Amino acid sequence: MSSLIINRIVPAIRMFTSHEKIMVARFDDRIELLKAENEDDLMSLDFIKKPSGILIVDETTDPDEIIDDLTVKLSTWYEFRTPHPDYILLKGIGLVAIAENAAALDVLLGAPNEPVAGVSGRVRDKIIIVTGGAQGFGGGIAELLYTQGANVIIADLNEETGRKMAADLNAHRQSNQAYFIKVNVSNAESVEQMVASTVRRFGGLDVIISNAGILRAGGLDEMTPETFALMTDINYKGYFLCAKYASAVMKVQSRYRENYFTDIIQINSKSGLKGSNRNFAYAGGKFGGIGLTQSFAMELMPFKIKVNSICPGNFFEGPLWSDPERGLFVQYLNAGKVPGAKEIKDVKAFYEAQVPAGRGCRVIDVLRAILYVIEQEYETGQAVPVTGGQNMLN
Ligand SMILES: NC(=O)c1ccc[n+]([C@@H]2O[C@H](COP(=O)([O-])OP(=O)(O)OC[C@H]3O[C@@H](n4cnc5c(N)ncnc54)[C@H](O)[C@@H]3O)[C@@H](O)[C@H]2O)c1
Repeated sequence: MSSLIINRIVPAIRMFTSHEKIMVARFDDRIELLKAENEDDLMSLDFIKKPSGILIVDETTDPDEIIDDLTVKLSTWYEFRTPHPDYILLKGIGLVAIAENAAALDVLLGAPNEPVAGVSGRVRDKIIIVTGGAQGFGGGIAELLYTQGANVIIADLNEETGRKMAADLNAHRQSNQAYFIKVNVSNAESVEQMVASTVRRFGGLDVIISNAGILRAGGLDEMTPETFALMTDINYKGYFLCAKYASAVMKVQSRYRENYFTDIIQINSKSGLKGSNRNFAYAGGKFGGIGLTQSFAMELMPFKIKVNSICPGNFFEGPLWSDPERGLFVQYLNAGKVPGAKEIKDVKAFYEAQVPAGRGCRVIDVLRAILYVIEQEYETGQAVPVTGGQNMLN
């Protein structure tokens, strides 16, 4: 079934069936479900648990007709019953299961009912995509958001590391879940697919953290047009693609629930606020990212979608800097970017000395800024520096 229909219907169902607590939902279109016509057909399937209720929507592929039918049937439903339906069968399209958390969705769709730990974090049961979430800042952010109760989509080009990370997080057996999706953020189809898979899996999207980024240092003499284009595609165009496809789903949610705020957050850099010597391809893309943030913020606030950039200082402990072969310490040493530096430790000391806080930026510093932005309802279009005092706004 077309992603367009699913992206339009499933987030609406999530909002229709949420009262105080925002639900999660899962779309399933396995063949037995596509053939099901009525409640008896569904109940004859052994993976369908004894539900508190099934609601059936007439066969049509017109999203507006489906929404109209749903609105009428759900209002009748709520006249007689307090809990939401566990399942909504969209005849000929698939089944939407609805529950309070991701582990309960598994059970509704046939998984054994094993105990899981409930969570009570600051982003409990929110649905959050982290691009470039397999390692570095993204990996750390994904892990901490999971600890704070979010359903975290680790969206990365690196399948092996990303899958392992999702499996390691899920080994904690919490009621929220981590989920890996392979994506290339510079490719429109791939980003569209990432958002569609998120909606199928969790029913909507509350926050996207556009974090995937690459850095290849070099002055004008060294920088090839190909490397410049690659960096721009990932760091700049990738952010546009994330905002484009994520906002479409977020708009559906805001349409069906008043004052439902969602977030597009770009992990920018202090190099988005101040030029960076022999690093213009990176700084240029990051400066551009702030222009996108300010413009998206104006366009999307009517839909209660906040758009902010977070501008971290250097994350010396992460692989971007510390990888022994391709890390920035090695690159900058070889490029002669730090006058007089003979060893990696000289490069590191040079950069640490530029930070009033005397150390590099850490994942927890960035996470605090992310949680601030998510919890705010009155902050959009900003570039929030997290630089230990190295960059101060004018
Ligand atoms: N490391 C720093 O010092 C620092 C400082 C400020 C800002 N940042 C920003 O933080 C973000 C993350 O940087 P990092 O240092 O953690 O990087 P990293 O290289 O450690 O990790 C980047 C991740 O992105 C993934 N990725 C790369 N290209 C991709 C693509 N096309 N599609 C999907 N995934 C892709 C990689 O597989 C990797 O898992 C970047 O946007 C970067 O500009 C980093």
